[in-house]
Amino acid sequence: MSSRGLPLRLKYLIQIATDVSVHKADIKKITTHQLQQMKNRGEKISMLTAYDFSMARILDGAGIDVLLVGDSASNVMAGNETTLPITLDQMIYHATSVVKGVERAFVVVDIPFGSYQGNSSEALRSAIRIMKESGAHAVKVEGGNEIKESVIRILSAGVPVMGHLGLTPQSIFKFGTYTVRAKEEAEADKLLEDAQILQDSGCFAIVLEKIPAKLAKKVAKQVSIPVIGIGAGGGVDGQVLVMQDMLGITKEFQPRFLRRYADLDNIITGAVKAYVKDVKSSDFPNEKEQY
Ligand code: KIV
Repeated sequence: MSSRGLPLRLKYLIQIATDVSVHKADIKKITTHQLQQMKNRGEKISMLTAYDFSMARILDGAGIDVLLVGDSASNVMAGNETTLPITLDQMIYHATSVVKGVERAFVVVDIPFGSYQGNSSEALRSAIRIMKESGAHAVKVEGGNEIKESVIRILSAGVPVMGHLGLTPQSIFKFGTYTVRAKEEAEADKLLEDAQILQDSGCFAIVLEKIPAKLAKKVAKQVSIPVIGIGAGGGVDGQVLVMQDMLGITKEFQPRFLRRYADLDNIITGAVKAYVKDVKSSDFPNEKEQY
């Protein structure tokens, strides 16, 4: 049917709908398959954490490949000292908000402490709740051989699993510190073994946190799935940072591996100070800023 003769407003709405659908069709969503292809052709994978709709929309629009709804939400969103207190319900709340803001990125959600370590049935139940209630694309779990059964069980339900080795914050009270992991040969050997186990169990990718760059490079060479590093050097297949850290919101956290791309603490503080001043002096709102 020709649009000639249609009221102008209707033509306008049809035009908008067409533009949007063309735009959306142009967006190629990231999948596990694409992440694997990136590794195969040597293209690095970019990953950041996100916990809410507004930031997820900005990060997705800026071209991030993977958004991790990390249990670091426990630290940066809820103000806890560790990742241990965050609950499955809270992770699902964050993940649901992130998924709504995303058109292209692949969304991975941490299964929080206490929601998968019990046994593989518990792990499967938690993974299914995350996928069903949030609409996310995959889950992440910390550990190697000790969680192998859970990885296999979750995968048997068709849920992609990302592994996490090295410094695993859910075990912080076992480690006692946040220092670099796997510096000793025995721990490095166990990490290489665990990476192989995670790959053989079906994980589509592995995060390596805070381990020597040389070891991380070795792992990335040994396994064929993508290896994403945080504090693990440049010899891996991609990088992940906590969004608040790289944007300069969490100023007190300054590990060597962190590169800050903005100083939002200063920018936000300046903006809020200006707002307070304008409100106090009755400069805001002015004539044009009212009805
Ligand atoms: O929860 C998190 O933010 C993470 C990243 C540090 C990888 O697991």
